[in-house]
Amino acid sequence: MPCNVVVLISGSGSNLQALIDSSADDGNPARIAAVISNRADAYGLQRAQAAGIATTVLDHKQFDGREAFDAALIQAIDAHQPELVVLAGFMRILTPGFVQHYAGRLLNIHPSLLPKHKGLHTHQRALEAGDTEHGCSVHFVTEELDGGPLVVQAVLPVAADDSADSLAQRVHRQEHQIYPLAVRWFAEGRLRLGAQGAMLDGQPLPASGHLIRT
Ligand code: GAR
Repeated sequence: MPCNVVVLISGSGSNLQALIDSSADDGNPARIAAVISNRADAYGLQRAQAAGIATTVLDHKQFDGREAFDAALIQAIDAHQPELVVLAGFMRILTPGFVQHYAGRLLNIHPSLLPKHKGLHTHQRALEAGDTEHGCSVHFVTEELDGGPLVVQAVLPVAADDSADSLAQRVHRQEHQIYPLAVRWFAEGRLRLGAQGAMLDGQPLPASGHLIRT
């Protein structure tokens, strides 16, 4: 059974590209049904079109507030009847109503080892904090911003001569590994959100999610 996925983006869409590429892998049931962007100039829209995936632009500036935008976003998403909604660099804060509507079927990727460095400028902040490790996290989305149960984290060492840019590049490469992995787990029915947190193959995942060290 294919698993319909709708991907929300705001920008370059390199994570979207990794998901598109991996959906062609042998036996992967994930099928990207549509890509929705809140910005008409998001490069990810071109990536989707090149892969023959339906695209929609929903410009948040055309709506009178977050509630109205999120209501329209729900309509646009649900037109594709997705089993899973994936935030891939979607730079909007979502309303509680939106998050509840997709409870247990909404994933996000964040460029830090959550719960460290929620929000923006994560690579610079990891350097400023003197972190010896940095990385990225895939998590189920709950009402707490960047706070939902963790599914998988990729951990990488911070080198003495790292800059925010060099870290960003290495973290991005890891994002492109762990997001397709988590989406495939979900599509295969192996990953779900239980009452106590994320579950893989019927077993609770550790609080950090599944850890991949590089
Ligand atoms: C990624 O690094 C993702 O982790 C980050 O935006 C970037 C999007 O890149 N998301 C967040 O910061 C969400 N809080 P992409 O458009 O090339 O996939």
